[in-house]
Amino acid sequence: MANEEQAAHWDGSAGEHWAAEQERYDRMLGPFGERIVEALDPRPGERVLDVGCGSGDLTLRVAERLAPGGEALGIDLSGPMLERARRRAGAAGLAGLAGVRFARADAQVHRFEPASFDGVISRFGVMFFDDPPVAFANLTAALRPGGRMVFTCWRDLLANEWLMVPAAAALEHVPMPDFGGSSGPGPFSLADPDDVRGLLAGAGLDHIELAEVDEPTWMGASGDDTLGFLQRTEMAAILMADVDEELAARAWAAVARALDERADPDGVHLQGSAWLVTARRPGSAAPPG
Ligand SMILES: C[S@@+](CC[C@H](N)C(=O)[O-])C[C@H]1O[C@@H](n2cnc3c(N)ncnc32)[C@H](O)[C@@H]1O
Repeated sequence: MANEEQAAHWDGSAGEHWAAEQERYDRMLGPFGERIVEALDPRPGERVLDVGCGSGDLTLRVAERLAPGGEALGIDLSGPMLERARRRAGAAGLAGLAGVRFARADAQVHRFEPASFDGVISRFGVMFFDDPPVAFANLTAALRPGGRMVFTCWRDLLANEWLMVPAAAALEHVPMPDFGGSSGPGPFSLADPDDVRGLLAGAGLDHIELAEVDEPTWMGASGDDTLGFLQRTEMAAILMADVDEELAARAWAAVARALDERADPDGVHLQGSAWLVTARRPGSAAPPG
């Protein structure tokens, strides 16, 4: 089966964590979602696929721009996050937002109706494929000729304060873990711009552009709130794996000091550095309307 490990991860504890922290993640990543919607420039009546939609924030944002007549479909591997997304769509539906659907599907292998979407978008949901060329070819085939692909993915981990500020403080006390580089599925697998250009060109896309997007990412209401959140993340589990209690306590105290230094009355903001990637399926089938 494709993406077996990722499916177990996102359908299990990681998905539960992300669903439970949905409001925080949406506040953290919301500015990147806005950049995606702006770059896609969705029109009423269009059909848009949100890949790795998670709890559905970007799907709902784009759906607002597709009415009347359009549709946003969010797909994901994670039952807990999709459940959250459906509940939110239900609430939005009561407020008059139609045309949103969510489905549990693997973007790499799902048989989409060919050429059925005007746009394929993703907010940090396309870095986890075990076979990226196959996955991006599959997504490209789902785009109509002339359709647009727009997504964000993280740039180099060293450029990302949301990871490096806490990690650098902890690393004074604990050994350097493996955060996953560009060689396999993981948050930084699309950090190399040449790799991304090659991948998308290989999938048959053109007009490929990568723009740097840096956003002050809100992590929590205070140093303490942010610390509590970080302690519940997978990053914490990776950092503190095989570390005894005393060392872990010293490492967390160092992280707490680093976060307090960055706290102001609006909370803790650490920079997030991403690529905003845009591309197009060649051809010129007319858009709807
Ligand atoms: C970092 S989270 C981002 C979630 C959401 N896009 C957001 O911005 O809040 C990555 C998401 O990609 C999903 N994902 C990973 N691999 C996938 C695949 N092959 N097909 C569909 N979704 C996938 C995960 O389940 C997870 O929800």
